[in-house]
Amino acid sequence: MCGIIGYTGPDPALDVLVDGLATLEYRGYDSAGVAVVAPGGNGLSVVKCAGKLSNLRAALDGQALPGTTGLGHTRWATHGHPTDNNAHPHVDASGDLAVIHNGIFENYADLKAELAADGHTFTSDTDTEVVAHLIGALREQTGDLADAVRAALHRVTGAFALAVIDRRDPTAIVAARRAAPMILGRRDDASLLASDVAGLIAHTRDVEALLDGQVAVLEPGRVTVTDLDGNPAEGHRYHVDWDVSAAEKAGYDHFMLKEIHEQPRAVAETLLRRTDADGRIVVDELRGGPAVEDDLRHVDKVYVVASGTSYHAGMVAKYAIEHWARIPVEVEIASEFRYRDPLLTPHTLVVAISQSGETSDTIAAAVHARDQRAKVLAISNVVGSTLAREADAVLYTRAGPEIAVASTKAFTTQIVALDILALYLAQLRRALFPDECRDHLARMDALPMLMQQVLEQEPAIAALARQFAGAGYVMFFGRHVGLLIALEGALKLKEISYIHAEGFPAGEMKHGPIALIEDGGPVVALATRGHVRDKVVSNIQQVKGRGAVVLAVATDGDTEIKQHADHVVYVPEVHELLYPILTVVPLQLLSYHIAVVLGRDVDQPRNLAKTVTVE
Ligand code: F6R
Repeated sequence: MCGIIGYTGPDPALDVLVDGLATLEYRGYDSAGVAVVAPGGNGLSVVKCAGKLSNLRAALDGQALPGTTGLGHTRWATHGHPTDNNAHPHVDASGDLAVIHNGIFENYADLKAELAADGHTFTSDTDTEVVAHLIGALREQTGDLADAVRAALHRVTGAFALAVIDRRDPTAIVAARRAAPMILGRRDDASLLASDVAGLIAHTRDVEALLDGQVAVLEPGRVTVTDLDGNPAEGHRYHVDWDVSAAEKAGYDHFMLKEIHEQPRAVAETLLRRTDADGRIVVDELRGGPAVEDDLRHVDKVYVVASGTSYHAGMVAKYAIEHWARIPVEVEIASEFRYRDPLLTPHTLVVAISQSGETSDTIAAAVHARDQRAKVLAISNVVGSTLAREADAVLYTRAGPEIAVASTKAFTTQIVALDILALYLAQLRRALFPDECRDHLARMDALPMLMQQVLEQEPAIAALARQFAGAGYVMFFGRHVGLLIALEGALKLKEISYIHAEGFPAGEMKHGPIALIEDGGPVVALATRGHVRDKVVSNIQQVKGRGAVVLAVATDGDTEIKQHADHVVYVPEVHELLYPILTVVPLQLLSYHIAVVLGRDVDQPRNLAKTVTVE
């Protein structure tokens, strides 16, 4: 979603801004722009245009916008089409202020009408331009930019992270946030801001996440934070410990392929240090004193809330927690959960899963649950993210930065984290014998090596991809935990190849979806060994009988499946609940190679954003 970068310091701002926007490209965007203020009140330069950063570089055409303070923005359209005019930064009526913004100002139409009645005219369809005019008008009244921003924010509703520069004060940036990320970077000679730490780590690792309702004034080497009423405040300060190389492609053609191949290592990290000397499962993050353990012991209901791929990972909790810990679990899309009236009590555990920890739907669901006195456990990949801060406790997936828009290693590590949680709950509540918990966890230690074996089949999967790339529609089906991989396999394929794909419970095919099967139509079936394997084979026979071409994902040694399926990809045998961690890998590779054959923009597919900070 929109990327924000800001710099004030000793160096020319433009290079810092354009390089910073490049590191944020992975978030997904459809236009880009920069604004720089020159010293001595000489001018505010704004250059912006629709399309990728390469278009912005072409529009800049080697110009060196003068000034050492500036803002950069990549926009993911919410109000108005992705056009040059709608790109950020937006200026106010005086032309002195430039504003960039991530999020949605919900009452912008009312504010626009009010400002228009006062003679303001607008050049874009955006909510941001309206707020730029509002801040500009208030700046005339208050005489101070930070006061004007605070006054404006008392009048707006919605979620936002915003930053403003002012020609009349060319060494300051004013920034603010409500329910959207804004991270400040501190250095002795400069101050920076960005919508996520990836934009800052080339400059500093000492960062401060602004909290909701806070306003910051950044000057070279100095940051002042207040609340919305101007009282002194402090954000959440922390040190970033991952390095820049973790966010580079390391010789792979795409971040997505690199991240698919990083999964064995990422899963090994998630599994690291999960037992004590007696072989008992320990989840250090959940220790936090006896209260957390005691709360978990008395949980009588679990809700899992998440969005997209994280929701598919969350589905595993229903199978694992119900099977191992014997607690009822409901898994729900976060944007639905928050708008109904779920029954939540202090004995309800809400597990909110989000790779980024910044997905607004998931954060809102977690906050709603916490307000109803339920216990909230976040599973996130980003230390210090908003979700992590809003939750009672956090289980980090430790997958390392995930840059490709299509989530891969976050997914497998989330499933591993949920399996660990399920076993931990089983141990706490004595639903399993200690040696059973220990054995299950010990079996999981083999997963990185087994994933590596699956990855070695990439050439064969790439060959299959060439056969599937011409399909207009691909169906995926599975049962039990195979279902969540059918859903995830279909999501991966549609988001990066733009081929229409849907996942179904295999048993549901005959209740409607089978009508879509055409002669030669491709179907992917999750048919690993387990109590539903034979049922899935019957479903394969049903679609084969109607002309489908079937690719089955099956367990090593299951040669019988070749009588039913046209193509088979094998994965090693594991405990039934652990199959998703292996079976998703060939489907990630299949989608990746189909997208490459079709010449798609794999890492930044159209219309999608890495971090979805709007509703
Ligand atoms: C799909 C994908 C999205 C995200 C979803 C939630 O590949 O990446 O569906 O899973 O937007 O994002 P997080 O996990 O950051 O909350």
